[in-house]
Amino acid sequence: MPVSLNTLETIIREAGNIALAQFKDLQNLQVSQKKPRDFVTAADIAVEKFLKQALAEHYPEYGFWGEESGQTEDQAQRWIVDPIDGTHSFTKGQYFWSISVALEINGELIFGAVFAPALNDYYCAKKDHGAFKNGQKINVSNETDLGNSMIATGFACLRSYLQENNLERFCKIAQRTTGQRRFGSAAMDLCLVADGQVDAFWEQELNLYDVAAGALIVLEAGGTVTDFKGNTGVFPKQILASNGGILEELLTLM
Ligand code: IPD
Ligand code: CA
Ligand code: CA
Repeated sequence: MPVSLNTLETIIREAGNIALAQFKDLQNLQVSQKKPRDFVTAADIAVEKFLKQALAEHYPEYGFWGEESGQTEDQAQRWIVDPIDGTHSFTKGQYFWSISVALEINGELIFGAVFAPALNDYYCAKKDHGAFKNGQKINVSNETDLGNSMIATGFACLRSYLQENNLERFCKIAQRTTGQRRFGSAAMDLCLVADGQVDAFWEQELNLYDVAAGALIVLEAGGTVTDFKGNTGVFPKQILASNGGILEELLTLM
């Protein structure tokens, strides 16, 4: 059965209800550590279990790769899912976390959806069909002056104890921009670029499930997705998303 954005939204909003039920009962939330600096909760597990089951029921022809349960056999045509992106924020009762779902067919991203249940903001895109927030078409910002821009980043590199990390790069760029943000959900960071709320976002050491949906949403909103050298493509270990207008100047500082 062909994938419909409406069916996908219904499924993902149901997953959002599962997450919100636990978000509203944090004192009873089961939290554990996968490794130092990397939490997982009962909500992550419950959301992914629901999404895996619901997507298989509606679209049995596709495989599944979820952050918490791993990969099924068939990975050529697969759903790529981060059940809760921003788990640490979730455990603190902050609102900036999201559910990220992408469909990749033979290496090409076809659908992407990022839902922030606590904000009730739903971003989605279908390849060559534009990007949307709560049903309204969205576009990247038209800022062309890095000095007037607002950038966002993250520090997954510190979770991996990388020596070649983002701290020096952040300091260099922060001194050349007006606004700097660290929101805590890479999937949402990408959607904010797509929606023109920030002018660029970059991060190292992510995984494809963090960025697949958000990257398609940026591209469909007229933005760029490259590595830190400007090579186009989705590189989770070195992702840079921008409005295009500040890309060249930003690349000189990356
Ligand atoms: C995290 C968020 C965060 C990023 C971390 C990711 P998770 O996802 O995307 O913004 O900086 O590196 O791991 O672990 O909460 O799914
Ligand atoms: Ca994540
Ligand atoms: Ca996650």
